[in-house]
Amino acid sequence: MQISRAIAEQMERPSWIRRMFETGTQLRRERGAENVFDYSIGNPDVEPPDAVIAALRRIVAENRPRSHSYMPNAGYPEVRATLARRLAERSGIPFTGDDILMTNGAAGAINTILKAILDPGDEVMVLSPYFPEYRFYIENHAGRVVLVETDERFQPDPARIAAALTPRTRALILNSPNNPTGVIYSEAVLRAVNRVLPDPVLVICDEPYRPIAFDGAVTPEAVRIFDRAVIAWSWSKAMAIPGERIGYLALPPHLPGVAQLRGACTVANRILGYINAPAIWQWVVGAEPEATVDVAQYQAKRDLLCDALQSMGYDAPRPQGAFYVWAKTPIADDIAFIGLLQQEGILAVPGIGFGRTGYMRLSLTITRDAIERSLPGFERALRKAKANCPPMNAELAGSRLS
Ligand SMILES: Cc1ncc(COP(=O)(O)O)c(C=O)c1O
Repeated sequence: MQISRAIAEQMERPSWIRRMFETGTQLRRERGAENVFDYSIGNPDVEPPDAVIAALRRIVAENRPRSHSYMPNAGYPEVRATLARRLAERSGIPFTGDDILMTNGAAGAINTILKAILDPGDEVMVLSPYFPEYRFYIENHAGRVVLVETDERFQPDPARIAAALTPRTRALILNSPNNPTGVIYSEAVLRAVNRVLPDPVLVICDEPYRPIAFDGAVTPEAVRIFDRAVIAWSWSKAMAIPGERIGYLALPPHLPGVAQLRGACTVANRILGYINAPAIWQWVVGAEPEATVDVAQYQAKRDLLCDALQSMGYDAPRPQGAFYVWAKTPIADDIAFIGLLQQEGILAVPGIGFGRTGYMRLSLTITRDAIERSLPGFERALRKAKANCPPMNAELAGSRLS
């Protein structure tokens, strides 16, 4: 059976996160699971909060009539009203239930808004380094990806954004706290970005990591700052439930043309095949919207890893949020360095996988014990890199991207 040219081409594009996942399976077979230190994938390693599991049990036990039926495509009105109230309290914007569309995670929310606003050839700006799935989401709707580099601190650069605008620009995706850099975008920078964005460019605030911020940092409320912004929210990371696929798209009531946009998003959510967000999980998040995993344990792992890497001589600043360490590779060739780490049983994603060479992403979704046991390997890899030792994994080194 023939597959489409577009998907064939997308399948060919190297996904470094997936490749590391597969390498991990192979390494575990060869060395034993306890000798593999997997920093590659952002899959939470903690259990959901007790309150979430308790709400799930309660809701299933209640077995309300027609709990498993079709519903309005935007989701249960009661749940949407509850979530809108919480969001209004937090943001100061008078959201109502009508402004909330329940989605299959942030990925569902982003695909829904892109489907609602893009015509073929329209452009979407993505700040680099970037979450690589954005490219697929945009191309799903025949959009064109326009990469815009961030500044030296990985903050948005208003001048570069202004220079990348064209008459076809329809949206800018902003992700803060950021995957992969762990940076929280500052309010001053966001205000400067707002000043350069003309109507009708829409800012899509992808915020699945908002609750995961360290040292008391608070992520500025982008929907208050931008004239035209929507929120793609998800409980995947906040509650450590990425397999349950639950989130929402929030459309601020002051958005120009909001009524039509709401209708467009509701239809998009339906015809993309999502139909509606998972029913039981809508009730769960409606019952416990603020329940969050223990952020302190991510912070403790961040401190352990960053402090150890820095004392060895790595340039590995502490992230402000999300659960990734974005460190410079000691040699410019990040793929070669990833090969050296792999010899030590350490799996990391090279920066090129996020559009920036010379870096690596280390996910903190790994146990404290594994971090501690991996540290000698980081030290040996650094020593080898400094001694100009070539990578031994020829396959990995050979699969370099251009
Ligand atoms: C930046 C970013 N956006 C969106 C997503 C998708 O999240 P969800 O599971 O809510 O669809 C992820 C998942 O890793 C992510 O890192």
